[in-house]
Parts: sequence; structure tokens; C-alpha cells
Amino acid sequence: MRVFITGATGVLGRRLVEQLTNNGHDVVGLVRDADGETAVANRGGTPRYGDVLEPESLDAAMDDGIEVVIHAATAIPESTKPSEAEWAHNDRVRMEGAKNVLSKLPDSVEQFLLPSVVWLARQPDGSVFDETAERHPDRATQSLAELEALLLNRAGESTVDAAILRCGFFYAPDARDTLTWGKQLLDGDLPIVGGGLLGRRDAELSVVHVDDAARAFVAAIEQEASGMYHIVDDEPVTPATLFTAFAERLDAPDPGRIPGWLARFFIGKVTAKVMTHPMPTTNEKAARELDWEPTYPTYREGLDQIIDQWERDGTLAELRSDTPVEAVPSVDTAASSS
Ligand SMILES: NC(=O)c1ccc[n+]([C@@H]2O[C@H](COP(=O)([O-])OP(=O)(O)OC[C@H]3O[C@@H](n4cnc5c(N)ncnc54)[C@H](OP(=O)(O)O)[C@@H]3O)[C@@H](O)[C@H]2O)c1
Repeated sequence: MRVFITGATGVLGRRLVEQLTNNGHDVVGLVRDADGETAVANRGGTPRYGDVLEPESLDAAMDDGIEVVIHAATAIPESTKPSEAEWAHNDRVRMEGAKNVLSKLPDSVEQFLLPSVVWLARQPDGSVFDETAERHPDRATQSLAELEALLLNRAGESTVDAAILRCGFFYAPDARDTLTWGKQLLDGDLPIVGGGLLGRRDAELSVVHVDDAARAFVAAIEQEASGMYHIVDDEPVTPATLFTAFAERLDAPDPGRIPGWLARFFIGKVTAKVMTHPMPTTNEKAARELDWEPTYPTYREGLDQIIDQWERDGTLAELRSDTPVEAVPSVDTAASSS
């Protein structure tokens, strides 16, 4: 298949380029600078310059032979306390970006895939939910909810299939959050949120190693899938269990605990909410229909892989030093291990 990817230089996108080319697909990756061009080319893809917010730039980037499109571009704010303007920009990249890509789709396109997030459909009472559950978006996920609905409606009226892969919380050796957690744990600065008004002490998160999330997209393309799928590992985990296991593997101090109401000041309101509200779901439909299963079935195997990679590529030594996490290389030196 000839696959066009927006967000091809991101944590998920880099793996999509690599895994798809490894499986014999022909990949075109949208890039915005020389680093992006190198990242896509090094993984076997063809880089094309463009910006999803500049529709005319997509004319040259999306050629007539493209059969599959993945819209993985996102601009999730990186700051602890993002401004409304940062969220609004992320909404534009998601929604206006998707509409721009859709407006330029060559006739050859048969399938459009969107990575979404499982916590968009978490239930107010914390119960287990599946792909049929009602959405409960918040400020951070409202634009994704609208985009999911738009794609499903559009698919009903056209010949292009829409596959929405709602993924669990990403973790990987080169994922920004994972690097930040590792650094904060080593410095004794990562608090475990201990319940209270902002959320529950025992909130179960659904997580997925990004290598496995990318494999699910490859499977969805090869199975010509359409509809909604939840891409999570086999075992929801509480932040307390996850961070304690991470600290043990890093030989870091036991993480401290803080009340929920205080968490927003340390990890930001949005992350605090994601971390403290349960989102238990399952990968049963994806396993059944996509012939996909996680190679890291739980956070335990996934964390082992991260530590192993960090030891091999020097990231662990950098994190143990005074190097700020922003300066730890994460694109090409700590790339996907898949
Ligand atoms: N993080 C999670 O826990 C999680 C969980 C489930 C699903 N997801 C979803 O997975 C998808 C990928 O996330 P990620 O973590 O891989 O993101 P990421 O690492 O932050 O990468 C974002 C990508 O979007 C590109 N981009 C941003 N603005 C753009 C624009 N105006 N035009 C073209 N490209 C643009 C970036 O390109 P540059 O390199 O040029 O900046 C980069 O390639 C997103 O849809 C996200 O919502 C994330």
C-alpha cells in the first residue's frame, strides 16, 4: 500500500514510517524541517514538505497513488500549564488539519486512519468501557470527539473507510512524558497523586507501548479495517503501581505522594485529570478483528524494554546527570526499537 502520514516525525509517526516500510509498504511522510526530512528518510520513507494548516502545501505532498492516509499530526502543549491559545492551536492542527487533508484526498485513497485516545470515552463512574461507550470529552479531547464523529459520518457517505484507533496513554523510550517521568523519578521529584477532589487514589489507566500502538495501525491497514478500536495493553495500571515499578527499575527513590488537589501544580491540570480518573478498557475487539496483540502485554515488560534501551543508548546516564530532559536526544538516537 502507498501510505501518506501527517505527524510522521512524532513519537507514533516515526514508528509508523519504520514499521510500514519494514512490511513492504511505500510511505510518504509529511515533514516541516530538515530534521523531519532526515527522520523520515532514515526510516525508509519519502519525506514531503508541507503543513496541515497550509492546504496548498498538501497539493504537492499528496500524490495520486496514495491509498491510505494516517492523520497523526498533533500539537499537544508541552508546558505544565498550557494557555488557552496552545489548546486552540492543537484543536486547529487536529480538526482544521484533518479537514485540509480530507479536502485534498486523491481519488486513489481507500482508507483514512486517525489515532485518538481511549480516555475520550471513559465513564463518569469509572467503570470498564468499550468501543460502543458514549464519549465524555473534556477541554483537551473535545476536538478529537468532533473529529471522530466527522470521520465516521463522512465514511458513511463516501467510499473511503475510516478507522479510528483510540490508544491508551503512550509510553516509550523516546516519548516526552516517559523521559520526563524517568528524570523526575531519579531526582525524587515525581509525585504519586493520592486521591482527593481531583480524582481517585486507585484510578486505573489504560496504557500502551508506542511500538505496539504503531503495530496496531499496520494491522488495521493490512486488515482493511474500518470503525473504532481500542488499542491498549492487557492490564490497566494505577499511577502508583506504574511509577513505583519504574522507580524500582531505575534504582530511584520511592516516589512521594501528594493529595489530588495539589497535583495540578506539579503535573498540570490536564495530566492530573488523565492520571486520576479511571479509564479501564480492553483490547478484545482489536485482538479479535485486527489479529493484533501487544508485544508488551503489561507495563512490566514495557518498562523493562525502556530501561534496557536507555542503558544501551546512554539515555540513562544522561538522565542521571544534570542534563535537563529537553536536552536528552529523543528522535534518532533513541528511536524505535521495533
Ligand atoms: N501521547 C499519548 O499518550 C497519546 C495517546 C493516544 C493517542 N495519541 C495520539 O497519537 C497521535 C500522535 O501523537 P504523538 O505523541 O506521536 O505526537 P508528537 O510526538 O507530539 O508528534 C506530533 C507530530 O505532529 C506534527 N505536526 C504538528 N503540527 C503540525 C502541522 N501544523 N503540520 C504538519 N505536522 C504537524 C509534528 O511535526 P514536527 O516534527 O514538524 O513538529 C509531529 O510529527 C496524536 O493524534 C495523539 O492525539 C497520543
